[in-house]
Amino acid sequence: MTKASELRLAKRMARLGTETAFEVLVKARALEAKGRDIVHLGEPDFDTPGNIIEAAIDALHKGFTHYGPSAGLPQLRETIAQYVSETRRVEATPEEVVVVPGGKPIIFFTILTLVEEGDEVIYPNPGFPIYESMINYVGAKAVPIQLREEMDFRLDVGELGGLINNRTKLIILNSPQNPTGGVLTKKDIDGIASAIGDRNIMVLSDEIYSRLIFEGEHHSIMSVDGMKERCILLDGFSKTYAMTGWRMGYGVMRADLATHVARLMTNSNSCTASFTQIAGIEALRGPQASVETMCAEFKRRRDVMVAGLNKIKGFSCRLPKGAFYVFPNITKTGWPSKKLADALLDDAGVAALSGTAFGDFGEGYLRFSVATSTKHSIASALGQRKISKGNCSGCRQESTSLIRAFSAGLGQTIFP
Ligand SMILES: Cc1ncc(COP(=O)(O)O)c(C=O)c1O
Repeated sequence: MTKASELRLAKRMARLGTETAFEVLVKARALEAKGRDIVHLGEPDFDTPGNIIEAAIDALHKGFTHYGPSAGLPQLRETIAQYVSETRRVEATPEEVVVVPGGKPIIFFTILTLVEEGDEVIYPNPGFPIYESMINYVGAKAVPIQLREEMDFRLDVGELGGLINNRTKLIILNSPQNPTGGVLTKKDIDGIASAIGDRNIMVLSDEIYSRLIFEGEHHSIMSVDGMKERCILLDGFSKTYAMTGWRMGYGVMRADLATHVARLMTNSNSCTASFTQIAGIEALRGPQASVETMCAEFKRRRDVMVAGLNKIKGFSCRLPKGAFYVFPNITKTGWPSKKLADALLDDAGVAALSGTAFGDFGEGYLRFSVATSTKHSIASALGQRKISKGNCSGCRQESTSLIRAFSAGLGQTIFP
């Protein structure tokens, strides 16, 4: 007999994964509460641009404080349709847009709407962990496609072709990519479309970092002739406009699918917060200089970080082409990724993620974010909280500080 108070979870909960970044953040905050200095290499340290904040405040005063339509306010759907038409060079209409609280729900809803038990879903590994989590949650078969360092973490189109079969229901793409910073080229995208051919397979194209590209251009599979009807585009405001806490993103997909995704919104959230949606219009239509400033600064930090990491014995790191992460190979340290990530946090006060937080093929790597200021985070790791912008004489000093930060915390144990 079970006790009346025993928790009897649904079986599917055992299949649900997580995003370790949130757990590491909790652990890092707990260490800080005990007085430790922690280097946070996490989400953007930029503030949301002022014009967007003002638009939200104004919207609150104007009464955008009520429920709105589940698929989003018509004026924002219209703005997004225009933005996507221009940036992806396709004809997107407001009926094809669903506004949701963050980019993540589009992953959740797409998989819930399309994927059944026994279906196969191909997804990048290492990759954003929510893909695998959701595929497993719905009882489908998660089919990883390995992203390899020697290919600059772009997927191998030939290998993709070999993984596609008649049970493949969905292929997930992510470019620029979390955690590797890999960016798919136009040739890759065309190759992927050819590998899919005329099969009835849907593609979830996660383009949340589309505006954070350091080299080359962003290419979307949605732009490829004949792919739009089979494509769900995921994009949002979190990364581009430093709006992670606002919770606003969107999906663009054929209108008949959009109505089902909107039904999931009705069942789960009712709608995305109305005043944030008005601010979203300002984000897309207002000045874009802050996006360029942020991207240029991330690129600068990437260069500092990669140069620093490459000087650490046992580390080697490629220059990522987009997003705001660096993904060094640490196999030559002899440490397993998870153990090294834990040691970095516990002993050196540096919050890094193990590559394995992004899937089995992440073993041998760590992920650092360059979205947080190197100057201040490294200074604090060294116990030199007073180092100000003016005192720091440039990138070379920052790289040196980075190595010292690691070595100082870990002593001879890791980097003798
Ligand atoms: C690849 C990728 N997709 C989606 C998301 C989710 O974005 P949001 O915070 O808007 O839900 C993230 C966030 O880290 C991400 O890295």
